[in-house]
Formats: sequence, C-alpha cells, structure tokens
Amino acid sequence: MPTLNRGFALTWLGHSTFRLVTRGAKTVLMDPWVEGNPACPQNQKHFDKIDIMTISHGHDDHMGDAVTLAKKHRSTVVCIYEIHAWLQRKGVTTTSPMNKGGTQDVQGVRFTMTQALHSGGIEDGSQVYYGGEPSGFVVTLEDGTRIYHAGDTAVFSDMALIGEIYQPEIALLPIGDLYTMSPREAAVAARMLKPKYIVPMHHGTFPALTGTPDALREELRKQGVASEVVALRPGETLS
Ligand code: NI
Ligand code: MN
Repeated sequence: MPTLNRGFALTWLGHSTFRLVTRGAKTVLMDPWVEGNPACPQNQKHFDKIDIMTISHGHDDHMGDAVTLAKKHRSTVVCIYEIHAWLQRKGVTTTSPMNKGGTQDVQGVRFTMTQALHSGGIEDGSQVYYGGEPSGFVVTLEDGTRIYHAGDTAVFSDMALIGEIYQPEIALLPIGDLYTMSPREAAVAARMLKPKYIVPMHHGTFPALTGTPDALREELRKQGVASEVVALRPGETLS
C-alpha cells in the first residue's frame, strides 16, 4: 500500500463509509453507516469527534447513522438541500446544504458537490421522502489534495468534466455491481477521472456486491488506464 506522507489519514469503514482525518485535525465522516454496516469493524464504531459529515444520497446504507451521530457530535452535515430539510425535521440543526456544481468551505476543508447517476429516496417508516438527487463530492484538503467520493453511481460521461476541473488524486469508486458500477464501468470512469489512486468501495458488504479490486485491476490493464488500485480492507488506512 502506498504511503503518501501528506498528513491525512483515510480509513475505510466498509461499504461507502470513510473516516478522513485531515492535517488540520478535522475528522470528516463520509456516508455515515456504522451500526448496521456488516462490514464495519467493531473497533471502528466509536468516534472521539466528527467535525464534518458528508452524505451522498438518501439511502439507508449511506446515511443510516446520520441523525444519531450528527446530534451527538454536533457535526456540520454537508448534503443536498432536500436531505438537509429531512434532517432538520429530525432535529439535526447543524446541516450545511448545497447543490451540484457548488463548493463550500467548512472549517478549512472544501466540499464540491458533483453529479451521480443513481436514485435517492429516504425510507422513513412506511413513507419514502424525496431526498433530492444523489451526489458525489470532491473534497479539497488544507494542502490542496483532492479526493473524489463518487457516492453510488453508474459511469457517466461527465466524469470527464470532474477529471478536467478538479483533477482528483484519489478516487473512491463503487465497484460492487448490481446497485452501482462494476469493475468494467469503474475502469472507464477512471479513464475519464485520471486519478493516481483508486480506492474501491461498495463491494463485498453483501454477497450480491460481487465486484472485486482484482477484477478492477484487470479491467484497468485491459483498458490501458494507469491508476493504481489501493484495496483497503475495512478498518485499514491510507495515510
Ligand atoms: Ni444507493
Ligand atoms: Mn448504496
């Protein structure tokens, strides 16, 4: 596994959940799904603090613990407007809504909301609420390092714009298939995004999410894409 020595630590908590600790000591939790997440190691379920939270879309496997954790840690929750409105109704008062194409600075870390090709209803008891559109995020750290969390998505050609405009060094891409891209599409995504490193996510959580990092490496090789696959195990850290 590469060591970047850039003063940040990116830990995969399984599925699409990541804990990012920046050089400025900000803790960012991306797609908070911890308690019900079968891939999240038991010893990773406690947080000393969560300064900022990002939510890519309204599905439970991406925001199942958002309300509880945001209230407990008074986290600034970065999400699309409609999820903000739902969280406010649940008593979360620390949301910071935005929409696609926009960027906001939260405590020195910058968040740009990007497109994602998926769905995003919020299941709440017997109701389904409109959660706005699903999104991804480009996170720009204090030192300018850019990390792209794609959320749940199919491949789409405007990923070329994300690559052109933001030039992410690290791309967190779903590869599990069925609900998102498989390794075949993720390799095409990487061709457009041109990240130095790909951290695969949204795979292995359930038997149905069959895409593997090795299959992604094979697809990248076949398509002549130079990105390096950094296959974290849940609980492992890229730092
Ligand atoms: Ni989803
Ligand atoms: Mn999902």
